[in-house]
Amino acid sequence: MTYETILVETIGRVGLVTLNRPQVLNALNDQLMTELGTALTAFDADENIGAMVVTGSDKAFAAGADIAAMANYSYMDVYKGEYITRNWETIRQVRKPVIAAVRGFALGGGCELAMMCDFIICSDTAKFGQPEIKLGIIPGAGGTQRLPRAISKAKAMDLCLTGRMMDASEAERAGLVSRVVAPEQCLQEAIDAATVIASYSIPSVMMAKESVSRAYEGPLSEGMLFERRMFHSLFGTEDQKEGMKAFLEKRKPDFKNK
Ligand code: HXC
Repeated sequence: MTYETILVETIGRVGLVTLNRPQVLNALNDQLMTELGTALTAFDADENIGAMVVTGSDKAFAAGADIAAMANYSYMDVYKGEYITRNWETIRQVRKPVIAAVRGFALGGGCELAMMCDFIICSDTAKFGQPEIKLGIIPGAGGTQRLPRAISKAKAMDLCLTGRMMDASEAERAGLVSRVVAPEQCLQEAIDAATVIASYSIPSVMMAKESVSRAYEGPLSEGMLFERRMFHSLFGTEDQKEGMKAFLEKRKPDFKNK
């Protein structure tokens, strides 16, 4: 597959996607979102890949949906079309973990895309925001829904209503990002985290992801039941036997992803 708006590479068992429209600060157009979805879906299906990283450039993870592409859309264009919102959901269907490595701007759809990833590692130069209000619209890919869950209603309201940017230290205090590092370390930190994840048994990794996602998306009682069933089901895998046996024998486990 040839991509025009992203770069795709494999580093060990990690799939790396770099958003690559530098002239417009990685503004997210229909082609980019389709290519991103295709690349992540292919990594998800590849048994040699255990986790993925999505990143941008030093200046921008992504400065939002492509305003030039959207400017003349009508209501029916966006309502009935594949673009703008429907092909943004692909990333949430990916079952292996996806880490966002954010340097620079993650604004509007860029912030929403980062939040669709399973966690965010950012540089101290990162800036997050939902400035759609300045354009006469509102977030359309989860900003008003994921931000309150991720950081609090107060900060979500503040960001969505004022359109202001939040720097990396505020984002870390608020719980939006899991780690803040120097810009030159950001991508490597994310690749290292993905490499650690990819060294574990894929069934347990996928079920951990699914279970934490339940906590984020549904009520506690449902999440507890879901977690318990996932936990039980892992006792049906060979890797659980191997993982516990290896611990008791004081050796490294040899997971077969079964
Ligand atoms: C299209 C964009 C863009 C965007 C930047 N560019 N963001 N083009 N869509 N979202 C282009 C600029 O037009 C410019 O092109 C070039 O990238 C460099 O940007 P500058 O503005 O010159 O850079 P700078 O002065 O450093 O300012 C950076 C910035 C600013 C603060 C990030 O670009 C900005 O405010 N961008 C828009 C952010 C935004 O509103 N995002 C939300 C979009 S709506 P030229 O040709 O002049 O060099 C959205 C809805 C999501 O995301 C819905 C999801 C379904």
